[in-house]
Amino acid sequence: MSTATIPVDQMVEEQANEELARLAAEIAKHDRLYHVEDAPVISDAEYDALVRRNLSIEQAFPHLVRQDSPSQRVGAAPAEKFEKVRHRVPMLSLDNAFSDGDVIDFVARIRRFLRMEQDAAIAMTAEPKIDGLSLSLRYESGRLVSAATRGNGQVGENVTANARVVADIPKVLAGDPPEVIEVRGEVYMTQRDFLALNERQKAQGKQTYVNPRNTAAGSLRQLDPAITASRPLKFFAYGWGEVSEMPAATQMDMVAALEGYGFRTNPLMRCCSTAQELLEHYHAIEEQRATLGYDIDGVVYKVDDLALQRRLGFVSRSPRWAIAHKFAAEKAFTILRGIDIQVGRTGALTPVARLEPVTVGGVVVTNATLHNAEEIERLGIKIGDTVIVQRAGDVIPQILGYVEERRPANARDFFFPTVCPCELRTPIVRDSTATGGEGVVRRCSGEFACPFQRIEHLRHFVSRRAFDIEGLGEKQIEFFFRDQDLSVKSPGDIFTLAMRDAQNLKKLKDKDGWGQLSAANLFAAIEARRTIPLDRMIYSLGIRHVGERTAATLARAYGTWQDFHEAAIAIARGDLKAREEMDALEDVGDAVIDAVANYFAEEHNRRLVEDLASQVNVLEAEKPATSSPVAGKTIVFTGAFERMSRDEAKELAERLGAKVAGSVSSKTDLVVSGPGAGSKLKKAQELGIEVIDEDTWFQRIGR
Ligand code: IVH
Repeated sequence: MSTATIPVDQMVEEQANEELARLAAEIAKHDRLYHVEDAPVISDAEYDALVRRNLSIEQAFPHLVRQDSPSQRVGAAPAEKFEKVRHRVPMLSLDNAFSDGDVIDFVARIRRFLRMEQDAAIAMTAEPKIDGLSLSLRYESGRLVSAATRGNGQVGENVTANARVVADIPKVLAGDPPEVIEVRGEVYMTQRDFLALNERQKAQGKQTYVNPRNTAAGSLRQLDPAITASRPLKFFAYGWGEVSEMPAATQMDMVAALEGYGFRTNPLMRCCSTAQELLEHYHAIEEQRATLGYDIDGVVYKVDDLALQRRLGFVSRSPRWAIAHKFAAEKAFTILRGIDIQVGRTGALTPVARLEPVTVGGVVVTNATLHNAEEIERLGIKIGDTVIVQRAGDVIPQILGYVEERRPANARDFFFPTVCPCELRTPIVRDSTATGGEGVVRRCSGEFACPFQRIEHLRHFVSRRAFDIEGLGEKQIEFFFRDQDLSVKSPGDIFTLAMRDAQNLKKLKDKDGWGQLSAANLFAAIEARRTIPLDRMIYSLGIRHVGERTAATLARAYGTWQDFHEAAIAIARGDLKAREEMDALEDVGDAVIDAVANYFAEEHNRRLVEDLASQVNVLEAEKPATSSPVAGKTIVFTGAFERMSRDEAKELAERLGAKVAGSVSSKTDLVVSGPGAGSKLKKAQELGIEVIDEDTWFQRIGR
């Protein structure tokens, strides 16, 4: 089965890995078609969906992020025909928001990061997101010296000769510009100019374009500037790259300055002070969308104050201080044929809608996730209904509702099964919530007895980031699981395979699809993995909430398998001190600790783990490298700070190689304390741990 249709929340490691590889190739292809050939074959909404799916898989499996992941780069590599230019300040991309909620979260995130009150006003700009191509124009002593496309964000194409013939682009700046200024903005074409040009092209038997954006791109990227000159290109300035002296301190004033130098800027740009105002302006722009005369695909919000922008900084390829709020995704009607239940590694049961195939925004959709039973109830859908399907930010389509008038007389209610669809038909249990009520997630209670879960666990165990045994992939592990002679029911069984095979009458080498060499190779590969780093060992256990990052944190903190194992068992027994110690680790909270406790409270799991541990040699964890004055130190921040939020402080400390802990223990090296500090400060003083204030902290790290 292709991994393209698997909902992200049901993916196992291998599938995620495969899907990330597929998406990397797919997105690279569309990047090339869009950026290099100016001939996309999918809509922007579809493209966004691919990027979102890639991101959400990466969020679920952060350790699987590929070097060539689309999240690690912007656009496509520059085309060969133009000279390359390295951007002095990278041309980055924007994160997307798809709903009002995303925008509210975005603003809240910024306030949190900057340690502002959640209801404090924060000046933010809102302006149309122009659907064109971005261009960086470099001016020295007021004269245009070079123009470059975005390319991959680091290196673009030199299109200076072409930029010179665009009427909207000043060759000499007006007013009193800085000595060096790179002005950035969007080259675009109006819808009317696009239609007229395409008519002309058609009449002359020449290439026609699919939309104004691609026409603009194709026109700017002509080797002959005379052709560019014949195309009615326009330019809106909205940003900048390198600037020798900044003429202003806010986004609004900078854009006004650009206007003063002779650029056209977008008249719909506004300054707002709450998420609500941003949204109001978004809807106002959306209403005018059809009459603007040029294509826009959303609204961009930016923090107005440039000093705050600097503090907020960037996350991988996009700024924390800006976001693009995209216009809504496409919808379609189709018939709900049935609802299936899928079982994941942790036994979670997810209902999946089986749909009559329908094209939504150019992609054929055959199923949609329904999340849980409550969602089905909330939607009020019955099998046989005509449902409204939407493909939003994710490739996984969603059902928005059904059409009352089209409900057939024989529409059937769906009843969530009470037993697992696995052959054991084990009873289904519901997770409990923090308040002791019933959670929405239903699970098969079979744990390792449920064949679905066992296989998923084993798959996880041999996956690339876990034991990664060459020649022992998903298919092979399933074969060994089912094979009567070799029967691998738990991870430890893998390491006794060779020994058991030697004793068996029917040998692996004689089985279908195997031979002398492949069997020998497999046993050698298993042997090679008998020695394993601690973080991989922890990760491979498949404890809920313990992904690769958490496993690495635990490995670093406990150092040896013995220490981790003892701590886990102690926590499962309810040992509060052991629990507190784990709780002090950064990014390890109740969810992880409870998951560890539940896992090790289970007799079967304990046996499985001991059995495995007796088969392998677990290496000690490596200590982090030292370079900055706080590298390798465990730091606790407590109380309030003037100059930074906790998040900001934490990020800075981590960037400098420190470990940030949530509570003070004997392992703490340093406590940075602000006004209002309470028990943590007291504990640090009792333990004789060094305590410094915010100013000393900044001095120490040289800021
Ligand atoms: S600001 C750090 N403002 O959208 C990135 N971008 O997805 C700053 N775009 O590469 C970009 N209209 O090509 C910004 N008003 C606007 C925009 C805009 C269109 C494009 C631009 C950028 C892409 C990001």
